[in-house]
Amino acid sequence: MINLNAIESYLLIHGDCMEEMKKIPDGSIDLILCDPPYNLAKYSTGNMKFNWRSEINNDLAQWDLKELSPADFLDEFKRVLSPTGNIFIFTSYHMIGKWHEVFDKEFDTFQFMVWHKTNPVPNIRKSSFLNSCELIACMWNKGHTWNFSKQSEMHNFIEAPICMGQERLKSPKHPTQKPLKVLKHIIKIASNENDLVLDMFMGVGSTGAAALSLNRRFIGIEIDQEYYKASLKRLESFKSIKTSP
Ligand SMILES: C[S@@+](CC[C@H](N)C(=O)[O-])C[C@H]1O[C@@H](n2cnc3c(N)ncnc32)[C@H](O)[C@@H]1O
Repeated sequence: MINLNAIESYLLIHGDCMEEMKKIPDGSIDLILCDPPYNLAKYSTGNMKFNWRSEINNDLAQWDLKELSPADFLDEFKRVLSPTGNIFIFTSYHMIGKWHEVFDKEFDTFQFMVWHKTNPVPNIRKSSFLNSCELIACMWNKGHTWNFSKQSEMHNFIEAPICMGQERLKSPKHPTQKPLKVLKHIIKIASNENDLVLDMFMGVGSTGAAALSLNRRFIGIEIDQEYYKASLKRLESFKSIKTSP
């Protein structure tokens, strides 16, 4: 079991979350904020070529090919979440129904948020809608942490560009690096300072960067060594006292 008292600010783990999550003590996580693979590869329409930028394909990466089912996470999510905790999961239109089917009956409330990307990938064939919205499934029980002062802060809609500029890591470049603006908004309303935030699909550590900048503590798990190392580097300005080898 992980000794949570030893985590002053963050712990990054290189490994498979299905194994590593078993080492997290019961009821210890205040906010699960994660971005699992979307399994979009089968919807790929092939590479799109542009003369002003590199090719785009929604066949994202090897890690997106492995089918992960919401049911695989239910027991561990419920076990590690504190009674006042919240869960936010980035997902897409073809998965939101599956998350709802498995999780709605297990929590007091199941809702969703929409992140509208102000600069979505263009559709040069002009054959369909742009993919400008991403969904975030969210759930909690009565008595959960909720921080807001005005109803206007609580629209289930947020607008932000996809991650770019200085914020976007160049090497390694992660195809689905999430913007800090969206992550910080969720962390602010769904946790308190010093709370423990878990992202078991950490990628290049975006949830960690957002959580630590808001004085939360963080546990991140990532299976890909290059992304894990990029997270270590990205978060090194925040004090860590333990990392896996
Ligand atoms: C959608 S990306 C997350 C990107 C992240 N939100 C960011 O901003 O960098 C999903 C990540 O989960 C990782 N992953 C896939 N399967 C995993 C597993 N079983 N355990 C841990 N990480 C996994 C992938 O390597 C990938 O980096």
